[in-house]
Amino acid sequence: MNTDQKFLGEGLGFDDVLLVPQRSSIRSRFSGEISTAARVVRGIPPIQIPILSANMDTVTGWRMATTMALWGAFGVIHRFMSVDDQIKEVRRVKERMRVMEDHPPVISQNATIADARRMLRERERGYVIVHAGDLFNGILVGIATPRDFDAGSPNTPLSQVMTPLERMWTVPPGATLEEAVEVMRQKRIEKIPVVSEDGKLHGVFTMKDHEYYENYPNASLDAKGRLLVGAAIGVQEGDIERALRLVEAEVDVLVLDIAHGELDYTQEILRRLKIIEGVKTPIAAGNVATVDGAKYIRDCGADGVKVGVGPGYVCETRDVAGVGVPQVTAILNAAKAYQNDQDRIPIIGDGGIRMPGDVAKAIAAGADTIMIGSLLAGTEESPGEPVDQDGMLMKMVRGMASASAFERRRALGESTTSAEDYVPEGRTTFTPYKGKASKVLKKLRGGLLSGMSYSNARSIEEMHDRAQFVIVKNPMSPEQRRPLQS
Ligand code: XMP
Repeated sequence: MNTDQKFLGEGLGFDDVLLVPQRSSIRSRFSGEISTAARVVRGIPPIQIPILSANMDTVTGWRMATTMALWGAFGVIHRFMSVDDQIKEVRRVKERMRVMEDHPPVISQNATIADARRMLRERERGYVIVHAGDLFNGILVGIATPRDFDAGSPNTPLSQVMTPLERMWTVPPGATLEEAVEVMRQKRIEKIPVVSEDGKLHGVFTMKDHEYYENYPNASLDAKGRLLVGAAIGVQEGDIERALRLVEAEVDVLVLDIAHGELDYTQEILRRLKIIEGVKTPIAAGNVATVDGAKYIRDCGADGVKVGVGPGYVCETRDVAGVGVPQVTAILNAAKAYQNDQDRIPIIGDGGIRMPGDVAKAIAAGADTIMIGSLLAGTEESPGEPVDQDGMLMKMVRGMASASAFERRRALGESTTSAEDYVPEGRTTFTPYKGKASKVLKKLRGGLLSGMSYSNARSIEEMHDRAQFVIVKNPMSPEQRRPLQS
């Protein structure tokens, strides 16, 4: 044993460093001179707020992922549910915003009001398109909305209450959303079908869809104008199938969720998905914390790397296994691993964010985006309801390697380890209820903008290049640092 090589140097966490103020030409962080646009992974458009909500079952389901993407961030839906349920959650996010509905709810003209109501319960739309003939060769004959349903009984044929084609406004194929909105405004209507001369339906534009684009100008969107969303997969045999089904549901990013990413299996699963199955959807993988770990993830063919071993609020890996690397050093290690790469894969700094300033520090160290668990777990959009504890509203947050999360995995048939043999590396606790997630995002982005202006950085790339740290000799203990409360 060569004892000289036992220590790999010192590790620095967020508490151990501060950013150094630099001479800056940025007038104000509010002046719009600073862009926080960032790359999440190779292969999807950049997002405007470099924050990802963590794939934890007390953090990201479809509601959190939708909110994140609407405001310009990104959510990764957790995997502790059946494949069918995870697909449904992905679809719910993808269906929220669209330029044009290309699969509108279409129903036969022989259907009744009860049939149409049933269809809308499943499709969650404000209308049905009434069709003559079969779905593929038929033609549009009318449109009906829930208001029309009130004009008849459940057994009334739709054709009696619908607005027939002769009284409808339509636009031809090729019309843009703006053109459709113009017609809808003029005619004071909320929906307008796209219909070709032969009566075939090509889609439907709605005012509601248009309003989303107006109300959320920074939304994270795919090439078709739909919200971006990621989903986690694991390392069980069934996870290849899970990944393929998620790809079919048009998820934008797959996140390979392994606590210790420098595992032979990472290479195996990436090879199976990318080479054997030909998956084109970008895949982020992790977690790692060393230069070699980051190189390994890149060499396995991942499109992004998740960095962080042990910094999470509900993590117990450092206590239980004695393993971890303080997060600033872990991110610096990944940045070092890729410093000479041409098309560098983006770095996701995962875990340990307690204060807005930590976001600036993570990005200064080389992260493109950061992933947040506990700070978002206390919001309205995280799964679960707030509970009253001694007069304070709290929400549960649990480590995905905690005993209670393990119980759930066992119930889903995801693990065959017995409860007695399982050694948890995460805990379950409660965090103050903070209201809307957008409030947390705003605070975190505000802190980042401030850190960037002190560092004279107008972009994430400039922050990587220009920001500098000092090491704090006597940092406050974690107990002294009060995490963001509201
Ligand atoms: P924060 O600090 O934002 O961190 O809550 C979120 C990240 O923590 C990781 N995580 C865990 N790590 N045991 C661990 O060692 C766990 O049970 C556990 N659960 C979550 C994960 O990387 C997440 O994104």
